[in-house]
Amino acid sequence: MNRVLVTGAAGQIGTELTAALVRRHGRDAVLATDLKDPEDWSRGDGPAVQLDCLDAEALREAVRTFRATAVYHLAAILSATGEGNPLSAYKTNVGSLLNVLDAAAHERCRVFAPSSIAAFGPDAPRDPTPQSTTQRPTTMYGVTKVAGELLGDYYHQRYGVDARSLRFPGLVSHTAPPGGGVTDYAVDMFRVALAQGRYTCFLSPDTRMDMMYMPDAIRAVVELMDAPASALAYRNAYNVTAMQFTPTELAEVVGAHVPGFRIDYEPDPLRQAIADSWPNRLDDSEARAQWGWRHRYDLPAMAADMFRALRSQAPSAQDD
Ligand code: NAD
Ligand code: SER
Repeated sequence: MNRVLVTGAAGQIGTELTAALVRRHGRDAVLATDLKDPEDWSRGDGPAVQLDCLDAEALREAVRTFRATAVYHLAAILSATGEGNPLSAYKTNVGSLLNVLDAAAHERCRVFAPSSIAAFGPDAPRDPTPQSTTQRPTTMYGVTKVAGELLGDYYHQRYGVDARSLRFPGLVSHTAPPGGGVTDYAVDMFRVALAQGRYTCFLSPDTRMDMMYMPDAIRAVVELMDAPASALAYRNAYNVTAMQFTPTELAEVVGAHVPGFRIDYEPDPLRQAIADSWPNRLDDSEARAQWGWRHRYDLPAMAADMFRALRSQAPSAQDD
């Protein structure tokens, strides 16, 4: 029987992954946890507790007492926030993953912990970026993602932990706001376009980035975790992708749904430099060949679904 513990459950991915896992395994089989007080984020679709993943004993105790068979480890500090406090980003991202992997080794449970396009730096081929190539990121967030990939490999080889991971591109969603990354601009553009009819973008018009719609990302996690171990050649992380666009191209699609929409650009030097150091497009052919990964949403399909969902939400949700 599957019993899963989710860390970082209050975040952009955690909110939707927790709901998907509850639908799959039942409400009492999913324990949602986050550093934040559940009073502020729990949707009441299953048990939820406050848990700091940097507290190794508390984490292990939670895994043991819940009798978790898998941990979906989403607690992290994202790229732009991480550059504001690199030491804290390193401690949180690497320290928490170490604690999760160590608990998994002792309690014999599986681990999913995402990596990112940020695990590549400016000297990797950018379009496409192969599954296996140079990984020399120039952000602390990227450094933590490379360390995390290596730790997944290490705990698998040394202790037999069933560790699995995906290198996600930027994720676009409408349920929970994004948590301080560079690709957040894409989510912001949808919300602000609806609320205000115009958007000021913090990246330059021609910054091409790799992206994915959240339903595809959630399905990728589920399908990777369902894949037979014998199918998986990589325990560090798999490249996955769905679409690539620039702010200008996204604005054109947004404009088709919001008549009169206007965009202007005030590139933020920090976030622009981070975006410029990342791949334009991941080559995900190995994920497609080994465990059958296929994306379903391209940019027009994602935009249609985003606007349908955002328009059905309360007006206050559109301008936060
Ligand atoms: P998010 O910022 O939205 O959520 C992260 C959550 O972690 C927050 O709710 C935060 O309160 C929690 N947290 C932080 N420190 C914690 C701690 N010490 N203990 C417990 N909880 C803590 O992030 P997200 O977008 O949901 O990302 C989840 C994972 O996916 C991260 O590893 C991130 O690097 C990765 N990822 C995300 C994207 C994306 O576009 N969202 C892309 C690639 C990879
Ligand atoms: N979306 C993430 C970020 O911008 C990439 O991992 O930080």
